[in-house]
Amino acid sequence: MLQKTLTLGLVLATTFSFAQTLTTNSGAPVGDNQNSKTIGNNGQVLLEDMHLIEKLAAFDREKIPERVVHARGAGAFGEFVATKDFSDVTMADFLNQAGKKTPLFVRFSTVTHQQGSPETYRDPRGFAVKFYTQQGNYDLVGNNLPVFFIRDAIKFPDMVHAFHPSPVTNGASDPNRVFDFFSNLPESTHMLSWLFSDYGTPANYRQMEGNGVHAYKWVNDKGEVTYVKYKWVPQQEAKNLTAEDAAKIQSTAIEHATLDLRNEIEKGNFPKWDLYVQMMKKADFDKFDFNPVDVTKIWPADEVASVKVGTMTLNRNPDNYFQQVEQAAFSPGTLVPGIEPSEDKLLQGRLFSYSDTQRHRLTGNFQQIPVNQPIVKVANYNKDGYMSTRLQKGDVNYQPSTNLPAVKEDEKFEYSKSVFAAGTTTVQNVIDKQNNFQQAGELYNSFSKKDQDNLIKNLGGALNAVHNKLIVKKMIAHFYQADKEYGNRLLKATKLTFDDVKEFIK
Ligand code: HEM
Repeated sequence: MLQKTLTLGLVLATTFSFAQTLTTNSGAPVGDNQNSKTIGNNGQVLLEDMHLIEKLAAFDREKIPERVVHARGAGAFGEFVATKDFSDVTMADFLNQAGKKTPLFVRFSTVTHQQGSPETYRDPRGFAVKFYTQQGNYDLVGNNLPVFFIRDAIKFPDMVHAFHPSPVTNGASDPNRVFDFFSNLPESTHMLSWLFSDYGTPANYRQMEGNGVHAYKWVNDKGEVTYVKYKWVPQQEAKNLTAEDAAKIQSTAIEHATLDLRNEIEKGNFPKWDLYVQMMKKADFDKFDFNPVDVTKIWPADEVASVKVGTMTLNRNPDNYFQQVEQAAFSPGTLVPGIEPSEDKLLQGRLFSYSDTQRHRLTGNFQQIPVNQPIVKVANYNKDGYMSTRLQKGDVNYQPSTNLPAVKEDEKFEYSKSVFAAGTTTVQNVIDKQNNFQQAGELYNSFSKKDQDNLIKNLGGALNAVHNKLIVKKMIAHFYQADKEYGNRLLKATKLTFDDVKEFIK
């Protein structure tokens, strides 16, 4: 007993400079956290050792479902400072004054691989920002790459299945499955050209761009709508890895980007990004040969100017990874007055998917977890459910009520109104002005010689791993239609000829 007491005392004394008594989850002091209660020294363990039972039960429930995509990530807290007053274009309160500061939380991620996977894999990177504004939380949930593979949410689950391991072998992401899917989707040509360039392997999370990717609507207090696209530009130099550099890092570290972010913030070397928006009026949509709310397209920089909106600084590491990073819940549907979704068909599907998965992953009260809580008071009549911790007082928890309601809406925050042409019918069609290849060709031509060489090497290598040559031919026909040189170089890399692919060129 004396021996045991001495050991415990020593452990506590060395662990805590001022040791607090260990307690159960209900706060009762614990007498022994090292030895279970048994019948004699060598007898059975007693079920009545409630501290032991609680400790094992907590352990048994430590794992929750990982995110279905973007499972591997790293986060940090920081602040956003607005450049100027944007109230002529948006009611968003955090943008209505030069110098206005808004606290925020960011989570960066890889996309298709599971939680313990290397951060060097070729993959888009998630770039999700939660602004804790005075009008509630605003989540800008973007990626490092400026466009996306598909333009309709109805294709997203199939796309992720194609990227994920085979249901038969459970083997890693398989080019046979990935290109089988994309060879039927010419709209993926632009995004695949970004992904297989060195932009698909950014050096770390600090030295990459972020993009809102979709068009959103900014709405002012007169109800006037301006379409915007967001871009985060790192003040630290943007940097990518070649496939060889990525493989070298991967041989010794699988979490290099997480550690880089954490260590640089720890050292006081706070990363910063400037936020820019491009703005467009709906009346100007017809001037373009693509649809401006098509997520497979950028808005060309020389045709739509960028305006600086503010600067983000990340200056504080999380204290607890699970509580603050794993339990963080972002959604493109978490918006504030003055910012609304555009008609982009992919975005419209995302509006449902995020909070739905979070109700499954974190329970229906996920917004009550501290990292997800707004800094303003939440006031509504939603109630109860698992893990309800928001104290709600008063007897009237419904509306309308003859008694004075404690909470009521304010009509100045009604959603903006859209006008539809008379006779518009519901349809299930592809969008107008698909223009699937032009921007992919322009991207190829904008790359330096070295970036072009690396793209051909990475993409050619991946296509050479595909067994079914019909899939390879269909894929190369897409890249050929983007740019003849791009297509011819891939034909050479895969030992095919123009005659092999010409029947797939439309
Ligand atoms: C995470 C769905 C497209 C960026 C997620 C999650 C789901 C999802 C279910 C997991 C959320 C969670 O568990 O908290 C979808 C669907 C899409 C889509 C259905 C298309 C229809 C996109 C696009 C982008 C994007 C186009 C970039 C603009 C992200 C990011 C995360 C994420 C950054 C991680 C957020 C975090 O750090 O917690 N997505 N996604 N997704 N998605 Fe998407």
